[in-house]
Amino acid sequence: MKRRQFLGTALVGVGSVLTGCGGGSDGTSPPSRTPDTAGPLTETGSRLTEGLPLRTLAVLPNGSAQAGQFSGTLSAAPGEIGLMPGRTTGMWLYNGMAPGPVLELREGQHVAIKFDNRLGSDSTVHWHGLPVPSAQDGNPTDPVRPGESRTYEFDVPIGTAGTYWYHPHAHQTTSEQVAHGLAAPLIVRSANDPLAYLPEVTMFVSGLRLDGNGQISPDGPLDWTLGRQGEQLLVNGGKLPVHAVRPGTTQRWRVLNANSARYLRLALEGHTFTLVGTDGGLLGVPIPGVSEILLAPAQRVEVVVAVDSTPNARYRLRALRYQSEFMGLGSAVDEDLLTVATTAETPVAPMAVPTVLRSIADIGSPALRQRIELTQGGMGMMGGGMMAGGMMGFAINGRTFDPNRVDLVTNVDRVELWDIVNNTSMDHPIHVHGTQFQLVSRQAHTVVTPASYLAWIDTVNVPAGEIATIKIRQSMIGKRMFHCHILEHEDAGMMGILDVRPG
Ligand code: C2O
Ligand code: CU
Ligand code: CU
Repeated sequence: MKRRQFLGTALVGVGSVLTGCGGGSDGTSPPSRTPDTAGPLTETGSRLTEGLPLRTLAVLPNGSAQAGQFSGTLSAAPGEIGLMPGRTTGMWLYNGMAPGPVLELREGQHVAIKFDNRLGSDSTVHWHGLPVPSAQDGNPTDPVRPGESRTYEFDVPIGTAGTYWYHPHAHQTTSEQVAHGLAAPLIVRSANDPLAYLPEVTMFVSGLRLDGNGQISPDGPLDWTLGRQGEQLLVNGGKLPVHAVRPGTTQRWRVLNANSARYLRLALEGHTFTLVGTDGGLLGVPIPGVSEILLAPAQRVEVVVAVDSTPNARYRLRALRYQSEFMGLGSAVDEDLLTVATTAETPVAPMAVPTVLRSIADIGSPALRQRIELTQGGMGMMGGGMMAGGMMGFAINGRTFDPNRVDLVTNVDRVELWDIVNNTSMDHPIHVHGTQFQLVSRQAHTVVTPASYLAWIDTVNVPAGEIATIKIRQSMIGKRMFHCHILEHEDAGMMGILDVRPG
């Protein structure tokens, strides 16, 4: 379909969504200003407390004294969080926190985490990006019922040191649970980390949209079409926090995009980044002088930042405008994430980054090429297929998720090329469970651009109208999810099952 023709169809579609579903306080209409006793709060909640020091997230303590073991408990339950003066916001919390506690694991560790579901609905814990056995991966097909518990157990494979996250993956309610606060970083450390000498900062970027009463607003039709819109960006749970550093400091930042739909085009005023890692850990060699990094929903990066040596200076870390679909409805404006503020202290000397970080091998020649097409139902599908609010009817190979159907088959250790073809009007960040994979090339129109470096990733952005080709290999048998990580798309069925069979 031609872009222009497509636009026509899609505009009609969204128009009918807006009028047909009434708009209102669900994110489809301009912010409503509901007066209340504390004075009007806009839907974008401009009165969130801003400018506090960047919080260091709590780490989940290891309850095991035994070498090589990690044990802990994660409890998901409703709770109240103070985000603004004079009132609290009802959220869903891991161990009373949003974001939840950081799970810090080591390569080779045996992990046992008890999960208590104190929510009113099914939930799971999914260890996003970490290769754990399918039965331990918190799939929607393995729900933990309200009031019940289960223990997830797995070994952290050697070579997986990197930045991951955990979040619920319950059937059709992942977006709701994450929007209410259930998500947190998961960091795997290795015994020989070439960057261990650098001070480290984790920046967990999440979204929050409040209604006129300062409570989490539910998804509306536009959210179900484009992914959750209009959220305020929080870093480590705070709005526009201030990260104070001594001038000249060199730091390693782990930045995570935990938003449902907001793409983060990261830029730091007056600085460039040295890109050192992606979803699955360090690159082979650092890439210095990077002025912008596009972080799609669910993606992570590790960067080294050499802060300028000027004392008492302020630099904004920004998420620049990014248009993720044709009509501009899903485009985000430039926003600030946090402020880096240098102190009045005398500058410290910058620290160099090693020229080699680790070796990343090509995973070998592919034995099979599979095609995965991202598709979009038009008006017809919208009329019939409003299951879980899937307004635009995004699907994979024309089908929405069926927990009883296998969509793709592979064999253990078989190297494959997957052409992920985006025949829809918007970008989709596609995520595959169970393994890290490598981007091989991208194709826009007829122009094929090979990936410029090897990296381990578990989520690849596939822009509207383009093709991303990845090289992938699964090393454990079992059923794995692959899906769009715009969580409303996932919940509405833009997800399939990959069956990994014995080789
Ligand atoms: Cu981050 Cu299938 O998930
Ligand atoms: Cu995942
Ligand atoms: Cu999508």
